[in-house]
Amino acid sequence: MTPDFSRIPRSRLPELLQRSPKAELHIHIEGSLEPELIFELAQRNGVALPYASVAALRAAYSFTDLQSFLDLYYAGASVLQTEDDFLAMGMAYFERAAADGVVRAELFFDPQTHTVRGVPMAAVIGGLRRACQQAGSRWGISADLILCFLRHLSEDEAMQTLEQALPWRDHFIGVGLDSSERGHPPEKFARVFARCGALGLHRVAHAGEEGPAAYISGALDRLQVERIDHGVRCTEDPELVARLAAQRTPLTVCPLSNVKLRVFPSLAQHNIADLLQAGLCVTVNSDDPAYFGGYLLQNYTALFDALPQLGPVQAWQLARNSLEASFAPLEDRQRWLRQLDDLFASAA
Ligand code: HPA
Ligand code: ZN
Repeated sequence: MTPDFSRIPRSRLPELLQRSPKAELHIHIEGSLEPELIFELAQRNGVALPYASVAALRAAYSFTDLQSFLDLYYAGASVLQTEDDFLAMGMAYFERAAADGVVRAELFFDPQTHTVRGVPMAAVIGGLRRACQQAGSRWGISADLILCFLRHLSEDEAMQTLEQALPWRDHFIGVGLDSSERGHPPEKFARVFARCGALGLHRVAHAGEEGPAAYISGALDRLQVERIDHGVRCTEDPELVARLAAQRTPLTVCPLSNVKLRVFPSLAQHNIADLLQAGLCVTVNSDDPAYFGGYLLQNYTALFDALPQLGPVQAWQLARNSLEASFAPLEDRQRWLRQLDDLFASAA
């Protein structure tokens, strides 16, 4: 039963959203690379950039759809070369996450973007792994890695990437599927996801961001995913919505991303409140915060500013969903959930 937090005044939302223990479950770590760090790494590594300044690069961040963003995102990631570069990128993210009240982060990374340029898998995973460990010791953040396959490439290439990463099997907890969605249905990756399942890896996939609701069903049925990344187009299939609600399949929704990539015209027209109302396990996430105008807390606050039907009860529910949907050990999730409940109980 939902506790009665409805008497908490809306004016307390900014403080409660910040102080709530939250999990971030949909963050592409390469999408946290700020223009300042892109320029610093380009200089350090002797990479030529087609932009004269940080301001000129930032000014290019105007997207019409997913592909227009991905073109810039892959160009930005091309400055990453050494293990220390990946460590620096991770630490810059965790510093912001700590300020936002993130207690748990599950970081997507795209090895194929780097190995194709000759960057060793050891540098990618080694640097990110060190960042996750330091997030724990420095800020008490629990963090793990999820290796994503690029869906615009072939399944054979995904399989090769998996094999290349297996010497570091203990350094990532799962696999995901990202990049250009339309024309690349989940079924394309059924064999590699089956192999990941046999290896005991968690499985998630982007579906229903730009692609149709059928891609969400496909990811559930053919890839056996435990969570859907985005998933906002599920409303095009009422039976699917009922299924997602009944199974409590988590959706990792990214509000600011959805507006920047024109999945919704504005936050006020976002369907997240309807998804919550329908009983779905919706979570809030930042996706690619350096490109979409905000880290995790900004995604929460912008959403609550734009949607008057969201109040303290929904703030509690969204934070709760994020913790429940995470792949952290049960005792950690239970501890954060108690902290969340105590915070809201003391405000009521
Ligand atoms: N969608 C698909 N692929 C991605 C995204 C996204 O929002 N961000 C980084 N890779
Ligand atoms: Zn994403």
